[in-house]
This record gives sequence, C-alpha cells and structure tokens, in this order.
Amino acid sequence: MIGDSSKYVLATGAEAVRRLKVVNDVHGNDSRALLQKAGLRPGMKVADIGCGTGNLTLWMAEWISPMGSVNGVDISEGQIQQASENAIGLGFRNASFSVATAYDTGLLKGSYDLVYSRFLLMHLDNPFRALREMSALVKPGGVLVCEDGDFESPFSIPGNRDYERCFELYCLAGKSENAHFQVGLELYRMFLDLGYAKPNVALVQPVISEGEAKRLPEWTLEECSPLLIKRGIAEKEEIDDLLSRLSKLAQDRTVLFAMARMTQVWAEKQA
Ligand SMILES: C[S@@+](CC[C@H](N)C(=O)[O-])C[C@H]1O[C@@H](n2cnc3c(N)ncnc32)[C@H](O)[C@@H]1O
Repeated sequence: MIGDSSKYVLATGAEAVRRLKVVNDVHGNDSRALLQKAGLRPGMKVADIGCGTGNLTLWMAEWISPMGSVNGVDISEGQIQQASENAIGLGFRNASFSVATAYDTGLLKGSYDLVYSRFLLMHLDNPFRALREMSALVKPGGVLVCEDGDFESPFSIPGNRDYERCFELYCLAGKSENAHFQVGLELYRMFLDLGYAKPNVALVQPVISEGEAKRLPEWTLEECSPLLIKRGIAEKEEIDDLLSRLSKLAQDRTVLFAMARMTQVWAEKQA
C-alpha cells in the first residue's frame, strides 16, 4: 500500500477475491440500480475509486461499451493486480486500472462523465477529502455517485448476540484505524458541503436468507481478526468460537441476515 494514514482493515489481493465477489453478490443489484438511476450509459467516461478487485468496474465497462471507458483506482497493488488480470482474462479493452490513493488519484480533473465509489469512504481517515477529489474529477454536467455503509446497522431476524458481536468487533477494528464505519450517515451532508444543491438520496439494506453470501459477516471478521488480536480488542479464542457459531448460524435458513444499510447519493455537477 502507498502512503495513507488510515490502514485498510481487510485482506487485499488474492485473499480478497472471494469476499469481494460475495460483497458484489449481496450489494450488486442495488449498486447497478443506483448507477442506472444516476444515468450511466454507453459511451461515458467513468472512474471507479477504491475499485477493489474490480467486480463492479467490469460490469460498468460492459454497460458503457463499446465507446465508453472506465478507470479503476485503488491504493492496493494486490487489488489492482487482481482487477487487471480479471479484465484481461475476460477480454475487456475499455477498462484500465491504476494504483493511487483516493486523496490524489492522478486522474484528469474535470474530465469524467461519472465518478463512483462503493465501500471506499468508510475505510478512510478523511472521507470528505476523498469525496472532494472525486468531485473534482467530474466534468460540468457529469455525475458524482457514491454509496457507503453504516456498520452499526446490520441485524438478524430473530436477533442473535453472535451476529451483533461480529459487527461490534468489526466497528472496533475500524475505529482503531481511524476509519469511518458509519460514513453512510454523513454522505448526504458531505454532498451539500461540496456545493451540490439538491443531491438525490436513497437508503437500501440487503437481506439474505441462505447461500454463500450468508458467510460474509464471518469472512469479514476472519479477515480483520489479526488486527483485533494485535490491538488487544479481542482474544483469538473468542474470535475462533464466534467464527464457528457464525458459520452454523449462516446455515440456518430460518434466520435472516440484514447486512449494512447503505446510503446512496448522486448529483449532477452544475455546468
Ligand atoms: C471494501 S473494498 C471495496 C471495493 C469495491 N469498491 C467494491 O465495492 O467491491 C475497499 C477498497 O478501498 C481500497 N482503499 C482503502 N483505502 C484507500 C485509499 N486511501 N485510496 C484508494 N483506495 C483505498 C482498498 O484497498 C479496497 O480495495
């Protein structure tokens, strides 16, 4: 990773592929609907900041083809390597990827029709600064689109203490790295502060009853467990016990998992 004061609490590169694919399975429908509402269309020049392994970046590349192009940016070399390999393997010619911080993406200012991020701002120590950089990339008449979570919002039906503890620990991991795991709640206000007079806003919260996606809370906890142990936030024994109970809970089809509630905000930049 290159210079940034908040450290990403989850795995990157090859180890991140499985979890980010499932993240996209869970949140992808809502994200695609958001991007379509925001006006994503063929021929556009698009940037995906904090693109991870590029799942949604490549969906956008397909949607805007053949004339449109997308730049994915991520601070992690491992994520960008996975995204690039994936793009080449799938034959995409209109998707390119670069390693940079969201605070200074290196992309051309004022040149993008649409600039987007998902689950990026929550990991930063200064989300507003990154959103300002994203806004600067948008050309007049273009659209800034951002969605991010509130990780104190997940709940299960019926309620379950292990599920709650999983997200409690995840939020503590975020706090220990100066991240903003409730940034979704601040997103609308940040758009106003950037000068967007009437941002569009929606709240969505996916619910899962079965399948691999139900392992997501467990895998997220597993990925941040080295940090939790290192910081003395939780002991290995507690985490191991919790992981095995979460795995059993995930197999119980009578239990519903409500994932992080997302705030989706989008607005056109005035000419
Ligand atoms: C949870 S992942 C989300 C990836 C992708 N947007 C998605 O929804 O599948 C967050 C991504 O933000 C990246 N990231 C963290 N801090 C960053 C920074 N300062 N600048 C750019 N990317 C950053 C991480 O490397 C990671 O790939």
